Amino acid sequence: MKTYAIIPAAGSGARFKNDIPKPLVLLKGKEIFVYSLEVFEKSSFIDGMVVIAPADRCQEFENVIKKYSFKKPIKVVAGGNSRYESVSNGLKVLDPNIDFVLVHDGARPLVSLKVVEEAINMAYATKAVVVGVPVKPTIKRIDPRAKEIDTTLDRNILWEAQTPQVFAYELLMQAHRQGVGLDVEATDDAFLVERFGAKVKMIEGEYRNIKITTPEDLKIAEALLE
Ligand code: C5P
Repeated sequence: MKTYAIIPAAGSGARFKNDIPKPLVLLKGKEIFVYSLEVFEKSSFIDGMVVIAPADRCQEFENVIKKYSFKKPIKVVAGGNSRYESVSNGLKVLDPNIDFVLVHDGARPLVSLKVVEEAINMAYATKAVVVGVPVKPTIKRIDPRAKEIDTTLDRNILWEAQTPQVFAYELLMQAHRQGVGLDVEATDDAFLVERFGAKVKMIEGEYRNIKITTPEDLKIAEALLE
């Protein structure tokens, strides 16, 4: 099965408050997005990677990748204004003969090889897989204007979606094509596949696979790496 990984890393990083784009920030001396490339380099299930970089930073990303002498083919592609556009740009450069696509946020450096391979194996059987974790807090739905609680959701059936998310190539392509002009923000790829009407399997990942969004998250990631 030919499987490629797309790593969207073209976000503006507004919540990170740093002049350097978040994926290029050093975490224990290594650029944040390089951690996931190293995991994908190790997996015999993955044939190559596509990194989605901010349009004006592609050369910098290329230079960083060169430093690490990866053996697998890695392409750097310019991202768009939304995560949806960024992943779509990555899908466009893939060889149409591949079988599966794994999408993994460049801002999640702590993903493990075990979780990546479990997700891919499950996708071989079900065509669409999301890695997630059961939520720990109590979640309330609120009326955003009144800031009043509308309802308390049943925690037993709530999971937080993470990445990796793995899909059969043709299914993800169709779901993305149908997502053109969508009026709601697709904050992950599973959302597009769900809207397309396909079943998406959720498998349990790891709480440590955090998304680095704010400066505090970087400190947490440092602690988790120790
Ligand atoms: O914004 P959010 O935290 O959901 O972003 C998740 C991932 O998608 C990040 O790794 C970010 O760099 C990426 N992204 C992107 N292009 C955008 C927005 C987000 O590649 N326009």
